[in-house]
Amino acid sequence: MLAFQQPGSMEFLHSDIGSAKDNSKSPIHNWYKFTAGYSHRFVDEIILLENLKRKKNSQIFDPFAGCGTTLVSSQKVGISAVGNEAQEFMYDVIRAKLNWKLEGSEVKNYLQFIKEEMTEGVADFDKENTPHKLLKTLYTEQTLSKLYLIKKSILSISSLKYKLFFKLALSQTLHKVSIHPIAVPYISRNKTLTHTDEPWEFFESITRQMFTDTIEHFDKKKTSKIFLHDSRIPNKRIEDGECNMCITSPPYLNNLDYGEVSKVHTHFFEITDNWNDITQKVRHKLVTGATTHYSDSEFLIDEFRKSEFYLSNKIIAEELIATSITIKSAAEQKSGKKSFDILTLLYFQDMFDVLNEIRRVVRSRNNAYLILGDSAPYGIYVPTTEILGRISQNIGFSSFNIHKIRTRGTKWKTLKHRHSLELSENVLVLK
Ligand SMILES: C[S@@+](CC[C@H](N)C(=O)[O-])C[C@H]1O[C@@H](n2cnc3c(N)ncnc32)[C@H](O)[C@@H]1O
Repeated sequence: MLAFQQPGSMEFLHSDIGSAKDNSKSPIHNWYKFTAGYSHRFVDEIILLENLKRKKNSQIFDPFAGCGTTLVSSQKVGISAVGNEAQEFMYDVIRAKLNWKLEGSEVKNYLQFIKEEMTEGVADFDKENTPHKLLKTLYTEQTLSKLYLIKKSILSISSLKYKLFFKLALSQTLHKVSIHPIAVPYISRNKTLTHTDEPWEFFESITRQMFTDTIEHFDKKKTSKIFLHDSRIPNKRIEDGECNMCITSPPYLNNLDYGEVSKVHTHFFEITDNWNDITQKVRHKLVTGATTHYSDSEFLIDEFRKSEFYLSNKIIAEELIATSITIKSAAEQKSGKKSFDILTLLYFQDMFDVLNEIRRVVRSRNNAYLILGDSAPYGIYVPTTEILGRISQNIGFSSFNIHKIRTRGTKWKTLKHRHSLELSENVLVLK
């Protein structure tokens, strides 16, 4: 059976459920502005739909934890959840968002300490610090010196819990005081922001708001766990069948380059220093989605035909090879330089590994819910959601169902080389 029906069961889906709009108004969910996030309502509603609070040993799995929406929503209602996130920076964001046992007096003392260190350090700043050159184009000299000094004192805090808390507040401050918006989803140099406040004022008020948000959750148990882990590889710290649900949103094919999305933050926190670092330390750890760092010469079709993905999905893989050839000739006609032809094959190969991991972690007779977008590299339509549904059947899921949530990609319609295809964003339910 290809599809199963649960009439009326997904009525809560609305066109913005795949975006982070709802999260901006929800405490803790709004602690980090993440371009690729989905609505917390998606998780809240599935918890209700699946009656997870009543079921014994409920635990949710999110192999692409992002900024932690699944994990935060679960912890708010006391349900266990476990997630993987392969970006070091996002891993820290999530760890901070799951720590709700903070003491007001400690927060106050640390704030005082950071303020004093910043004020005293400004005069001597140039002698010991060389801000990253990208950051010099996004912040005034005075702002940057203060941001660096705040960072330095935060990194000297020995308590991990408070260090992560303040680091996250500083990450948000980076968005507030930049000359140009830094994540829409990339830097928008054609827009300029005007600020009336100093970084310190933003940092302090963000911190106070974050602390206020934790107060009502202080007594709640910590039920969510996050691992810094690449979900293409089995995570041995999560046992077979440990979860009875998966709620997630994978990278979309040919959409965001996460290495680029987070580069202001990864440069600032010294995780990366240049494009090579972004490729090695960020992009290579993620599902091949929109990264353009693979070249044709690196890809060997004969090796691909020997891969586990190919051997377990021969019909689908041959269809994908045919699509890949069409993408390549479309690219040649448009003189396009990006290797979307091989990216498409690598995307499904990577997602095959992640679907296997979901199958391993989620007990049988339970569902996995994935928010996904279809794609059209060089104008060639790839029904990503359906293909992943079909691959999941070869892995052992018994059926899949697709619920369309919205038409996407229309805002780029006016671009000269843009295709005119209407793409969709969907929920893929695997049973
Ligand atoms: C679409 S976002 C998830 C958004 C998330 N649902 C939220 O609302 O916060 C995809 C996330 O998956 C992460 N990711 C990509 N490939 C990964 C992999 N192989 N293992 C773990 N995480 C990965 C990316 O870093 C990104 O944060």
